[in-house]
Amino acid sequence: MEYTVNSGVPAKQRVGCLVVGAFEHRRLSEQAQQLDHVSGGYLSGICRRGDMDGKLGQIMLLHSVPNTLCERVMLVGCGKERELDERHYRRILRAAADALGTLGATDAVSYLPDLHVKGRALAWKVQQAVLITDAAFYRFSTYKKEPEKCALRRMSFGLENRRELRDGEHALEVAQAIARGIERTKNVANEPPNVCTPAFLAEKAREWFADQERCKVHVVEREEMAELGMGAFLAVAKGSRLPPKLIAIEYQGADEQHKPYVFVGKGLTFDSGGISIKPAERMDEMKYDMCGAAAVLGILSVVQSLGLPLRVVGLIGAAENMPGGEAYKPGDIVRSMSGQTIEVLNTDAEGRLVLADCLTYAERYQPQTLIDMATLTGACVVALGRYASGLLTKDETLSRELVDAGQNAADPFWPLPLWDDYQEAINSPFADMANVGNREGGTITAACFLSRYTKGQRWAHLDIAGTAYLSGKEKGATGRPVAAIAQYLLGRVPDAAKAAK
Ligand code: BES
Ligand code: MN
Ligand code: ZN
Repeated sequence: MEYTVNSGVPAKQRVGCLVVGAFEHRRLSEQAQQLDHVSGGYLSGICRRGDMDGKLGQIMLLHSVPNTLCERVMLVGCGKERELDERHYRRILRAAADALGTLGATDAVSYLPDLHVKGRALAWKVQQAVLITDAAFYRFSTYKKEPEKCALRRMSFGLENRRELRDGEHALEVAQAIARGIERTKNVANEPPNVCTPAFLAEKAREWFADQERCKVHVVEREEMAELGMGAFLAVAKGSRLPPKLIAIEYQGADEQHKPYVFVGKGLTFDSGGISIKPAERMDEMKYDMCGAAAVLGILSVVQSLGLPLRVVGLIGAAENMPGGEAYKPGDIVRSMSGQTIEVLNTDAEGRLVLADCLTYAERYQPQTLIDMATLTGACVVALGRYASGLLTKDETLSRELVDAGQNAADPFWPLPLWDDYQEAINSPFADMANVGNREGGTITAACFLSRYTKGQRWAHLDIAGTAYLSGKEKGATGRPVAAIAQYLLGRVPDAAKAAK
């Protein structure tokens, strides 16, 4: 989709569809009132007849509205005017985007970002409009002979006055970079596991970043991993014919004096569970066990397109977890790169083994902040559902920064405790630790495991098992938490650098 902003009045827009809001109790939005005025009360007449009562998300399509230059006007129900908050605004945008997808119009002008949303300025409203519209029109149709088609190609946001154009354009630029990062994350994550292998992830990293300004890509192969002593990571990959890859993407938007933000993504391109094999039902969804990796790629994409004046490193631990004659087994004891030994009690708790060695590898970058993202535990889906990603860290400042960024981006994180009292669950009689605790507090004990590989680091763990993809009828990757992390990084850009831009 192509996005623009403009400051034209509604009646003068020569376009396939105009999108304006209508509140409950026949209260028209400002732009709808303007249309009503030029059309001699056409819109208010319809509301009076009771066909459009402005209920949240309700859609009414009007053709050939008198004295306008557009082919159609879409009235979108906005609910009660006084209740228009962020959640309602997002619902309104989604309803409008879904309805636009069913039309024959190739272009549209939306006035929804002019709605007054409590506590939110234009930039936020434009950003949400782009991200929600893009998400509504997203399809993964690479493998379909007849992809679903939709006519809409161009979307413009009508702003109230010319003075807003500059802010609007800047917001569009940022929003489009984020939208593209999210789209790339979804595309990679939705690929089937016979295509999206560790080598495929390495190839994507090279394709997107190797030749880009300020970017370097390095792939650590199995032999080098062995030399580094990554016994935990390598154990997971043993059962698969596919060689593991540790992919490093380095973005240098600031000089060496600045320490980098390092992101680590779990990249299990398929998690069968290994010898502790998973049940058959919904096992296909374990192709999504690389969503952390896909998000890291998306985040670097955003950083690169916006040219953020920061140092950012993306690390991806890519492997496939399979059973087989060479596979690692329950009872195995492996030695991690950190020197700590691990008794494997369950080969399905593989993500933490891969992450452990990646987190140790991250030390070489002397991260200013280290954040890993992983579809790590089913327990997190039980605890937080599909709305919030789990956030585990002992650093309260980092916790607050991430919660704020997630809230602002409508891509929320919610903290779970990482108290030492949970550590004893992963004690082992034979090794320095076991790779699982008991069933209780599974998300927390998984994070406790990771914490043993991030000592002395400013570190947070994001469990995205419930948020990175949807199941059932709406099956597909969500692109989370790219938007939240983009927001977090935008908030870290020094003010001086912002002014210079
Ligand atoms: N990739 C899974 C976690 C997962 C489960 C993500 C369901 C999304 C949906 C992970 O590798 C795993 O298998 N975790 C186990 C841990 C257990 C063996 C301690 C789990 O959650 O059951
Ligand atoms: Mn697993
Ligand atoms: Zn897994």
